[in-house]
Amino acid sequence: MAMGLYLLLLSFSLLPPVFSTYHITLTKSYGLAITDGNRTIVNNSVILAGSQNTTASALRNNTQQLSYSFITPTVAKVQLNTTYPFLGARFTTATSSHFYGVWEYPFSAQITNKNVSFDLKGVGNAEGINWSNARAPFFITSAGYGVYADTLGMGSYDFKTPGEAQFIFNTSNLSYYIILPKSEGDYKSIIEQYTALSARPGMPPTSGLGPTFWSDDFEQDFHGTVSNAQENFYDVVNHLYYNQIRATSMFADRPYGTGNRSFGNFDFDPKFYPDPEGFIANLSDWGFDFQVWIANRAFFKTELFNTSQTNNWLFPGVDPVQFLGPALNLSIPAAYDYFKKSLEYFPSVGVKGYKIDRGEEEEMPVWEQNFQMTLFLQLAYDTMIKRWGKSNFYNFARSAVDRSRARTAIWNGDSHANFTGLAYSVASGIRSGIISFPIWGSDTGGYTRETGSTQSPTEEVWARWMWFSAFSPVYEFMLGTNHTPWYSPYTNSTQTVDVLKQTANLHSELIPYIKSYAYAASKSGAPIMRALFLEAPQDKNTWEINDQYFFGAEFLVAPIVSSGGTRTVYFPAGGSKKYLEYFGKKDIHAVGDTARVTLSVSSSPVYVTQGAIIPRGDVYQGNARWIDNWSPKLTVEVFPSFEVKESRFTYFKGEGADGEGVEIKMTTNTSGKSLKVTYGDLGATGTVRVYLKSGVKDVELQEGGGEAKLDGVECLF
Ligand SMILES: *[C@@H]1O[C@H](CO)[C@@H](O)[C@H](O)[C@H]1NC(C)=O
Ligand SMILES: *[C@@H]1O[C@H](CO)[C@@H](O)[C@H](O)[C@H]1NC(C)=O
Ligand SMILES: *[C@@H]1O[C@H](CO)[C@@H](O)[C@H](O)[C@H]1NC(C)=O
Ligand SMILES: *[C@@H]1O[C@H](CO)[C@@H](O)[C@H](O)[C@H]1NC(C)=O
Ligand SMILES: *[C@@H]1O[C@H](CO)[C@@H](O)[C@H](O)[C@H]1NC(C)=O
Ligand SMILES: *[C@@H]1O[C@H](CO)[C@@H](O)[C@H](O)[C@H]1NC(C)=O
Ligand SMILES: *[C@@H]1O[C@H](CO)[C@@H](O)[C@H](O)[C@H]1NC(C)=O
Ligand SMILES: *[C@@H]1O[C@H](CO)[C@@H](O)[C@H](O)[C@H]1NC(C)=O
Ligand SMILES: *[C@@H]1O[C@H](CO)[C@@H](O)[C@H](O)[C@H]1NC(C)=O
Ligand SMILES: *[C@@H]1O[C@H](CO)[C@@H](O)[C@H](O)[C@H]1NC(C)=O
Ligand SMILES: *[C@@H]1O[C@H](CO)[C@@H](O)[C@H](O)[C@H]1NC(C)=O
Ligand SMILES: *[C@@H]1O[C@H](CO)[C@@H](O)[C@H](O)[C@H]1NC(C)=O
Repeated sequence: MAMGLYLLLLSFSLLPPVFSTYHITLTKSYGLAITDGNRTIVNNSVILAGSQNTTASALRNNTQQLSYSFITPTVAKVQLNTTYPFLGARFTTATSSHFYGVWEYPFSAQITNKNVSFDLKGVGNAEGINWSNARAPFFITSAGYGVYADTLGMGSYDFKTPGEAQFIFNTSNLSYYIILPKSEGDYKSIIEQYTALSARPGMPPTSGLGPTFWSDDFEQDFHGTVSNAQENFYDVVNHLYYNQIRATSMFADRPYGTGNRSFGNFDFDPKFYPDPEGFIANLSDWGFDFQVWIANRAFFKTELFNTSQTNNWLFPGVDPVQFLGPALNLSIPAAYDYFKKSLEYFPSVGVKGYKIDRGEEEEMPVWEQNFQMTLFLQLAYDTMIKRWGKSNFYNFARSAVDRSRARTAIWNGDSHANFTGLAYSVASGIRSGIISFPIWGSDTGGYTRETGSTQSPTEEVWARWMWFSAFSPVYEFMLGTNHTPWYSPYTNSTQTVDVLKQTANLHSELIPYIKSYAYAASKSGAPIMRALFLEAPQDKNTWEINDQYFFGAEFLVAPIVSSGGTRTVYFPAGGSKKYLEYFGKKDIHAVGDTARVTLSVSSSPVYVTQGAIIPRGDVYQGNARWIDNWSPKLTVEVFPSFEVKESRFTYFKGEGADGEGVEIKMTTNTSGKSLKVTYGDLGATGTVRVYLKSGVKDVELQEGGGEAKLDGVECLF
């Protein structure tokens, strides 16, 4: 026995090392090359070092400061320990290659980084969306690999030269990783390996996915008998109830507290919130979680400002009298602890998360942004987790760097309330997915609005955006002065309320599906909104499509982002050979085709893949108190095709950290013209709904798991 084990170990040690497929070598020009024995797969043409980021040049023969090796069969780690203050690298590909990632913000409304050169910082004022700021020191190239620079230092990325990607960071020690796919074209596996090295997205509570309603200022715009902010929220609760519009949470943007600019005294203003604890308890009873606005900004003469100034915690050189109050330097442990302790007031009265604003408005030196935002998101997370436990609260930020993705979700900043803003928002959502910030939403209808004769959004923009939010991971909706659908003086309020109800309730129905993909993201980093190339990597036509995405793997979504209701949809060649239009369930499209579609505001172009399994239904009650004896109901929609022998879906049952994945599987058999759907305990009653040529066939879901078998079927596609 002992001898047998010894021989077994010996024979293992004689096997060739598993890392044998790829080799990394120093080239004659002091770059690095990864080959598979025959071909150069990665050309890291130059390693950069210098005393300034503008003068960094090739490290050349100083290579004793450099180490490189494969740490897994598909990930090479390159490490530089130098005395140069700036380090970086350049990668060279064919000039036709595309580069993706780094920023959420879509420069020129594009998902690629073609002709972009910018720092790894918040983007600030920009076309389409102001302050679209999520970012990651990570890019993917269509040449077939990804690169992750493991640092929070300030850096710059340059993609201006076709066939070239370059980064330089303000650091003398830098590790970067070159990540190859686990199989050719598997770009999702690049994201998976990257997020294993940096951080995986956190799992949100169901209430975070929305629909979520909020206002920029609940302290004004009173209607009827409303006389304070609390009652203003209750008025929203009532309107949602009477219109039977589903919702799961609400939040208060600024102002809501006392003092200058209403933030920094860690309280609610009693004039507008006479009883914060009772108010939040009421919202909770009616099915809403509640969040408040915070930022690392010390507004003049607030408690936050006074304490920080006394202790020298504020970044110097930022004029406190300006609207741009300074930030606290959270690298100072006492400042960090004070801020954290002060914020604990909010969870203590029932607040279940923060809208975390700013961090990129010059309230701190630019090279501090990545460090400071990471610290702030951490302390905000810590105050919430202490009170509520993992995944039981919802924090979402405008500015975040990749290591914070386990701590925060994202909203895309101040989008413009017109079709330009919508198009940019769609592209920013896709980009947010590429850098693995999957839990993402945009202000439905846009944030930056025009008043006067060009009131925005128009009802058309608003309606198209609502459809986009229905197929976004998070559906959030801004109300307020002139922008509350049921009070809107300048839009057709009947249409707006109708489309709001239709899309919010659809999003709510899709929660079982969305939550399952949020769970998948927390395990693998794979986004929910997926660039087409993530699902159809072999189809070269997909590389530059900015306004279509896969939502999960089963839905192909093509939001209408211009006026008139017409657009062209491209059907990418991925796993599915055909697509079925989802709402009518009649039109079938072959891959490689394009279709010209025209739709009224009561629909949107959405398609499903062959073999799709789509769990949807009513699994989270939220505000739906109009339903007596509510209990969870699930409909497992399946779209069989004999061209797909087997398909699977991991359904996420339960809440947050207490939930679990349950397998649903469909197999088809051409010769028997049969199909079978098997599933574990899905935790709800309901139906397996099979879409066939003959129509819909419903089979009751069995408690504790079971199967549905059908014979003699004709598939739709
Ligand atoms: C390298 O080329 C040889 C000869 O064409 C081929 O047999 C082998 O599979 C190739 N190796 C790889 C890793 O592509
Ligand atoms: C890598 O790129 C550099 C710069 O374009 C080029 O000179 C070199 O030949 C390339 N190396 C390989 C192996 O392709
Ligand atoms: C150098 O750093 C500054 C400040 O971070 C930045 O604005 C600039 O783009 C950088 N330049 C290069 C070539 O990386
Ligand atoms: C290589 O190193 C030597 C001494 O270490 C130095 O004199 C020379 O300038 C270096 N060459 C380059 C191209 O950096
Ligand atoms: C760089 O520093 C790290 C950590 O101190 C060390 O593990 C690594 O071996 C060093 N690499 C080189 C090339 O000096
Ligand atoms: C960076 O690398 C240098 C050279 O190896 C080393 O002396 C220094 O301690 C390193 N600094 C950090 C922060 O790791
Ligand atoms: C690249 O961007 C610059 C502005 O940054 C612009 O002037 C130029 O025309 C762009 N080039 C291409 C090829 O798009
Ligand atoms: C948003 O950014 C644009 C630049 O694209 C700027 O003109 C505008 O003033 C900004 N809007 C706000 C509200 O700051
Ligand atoms: C690099 O960081 C240092 C602080 O560590 C800062 O003083 C300097 O301005 C930064 N340089 C650039 C170009 O960002
Ligand atoms: C509020 O802050 C402004 C500057 O933003 C300052 O001018 C004003 O004095 C402050 N007001 C109070 C009451 O502290
Ligand atoms: C949207 O608004 C911005 C300014 O806020 C403007 O520059 C842009 O042209 C507008 N787009 C459309 C399609 O009206
Ligand atoms: C307003 O919208 C409703 C519902 O879409 C529609 O029936 C009605 O005709 C519209 N009214 C006007 C004035 O356009």
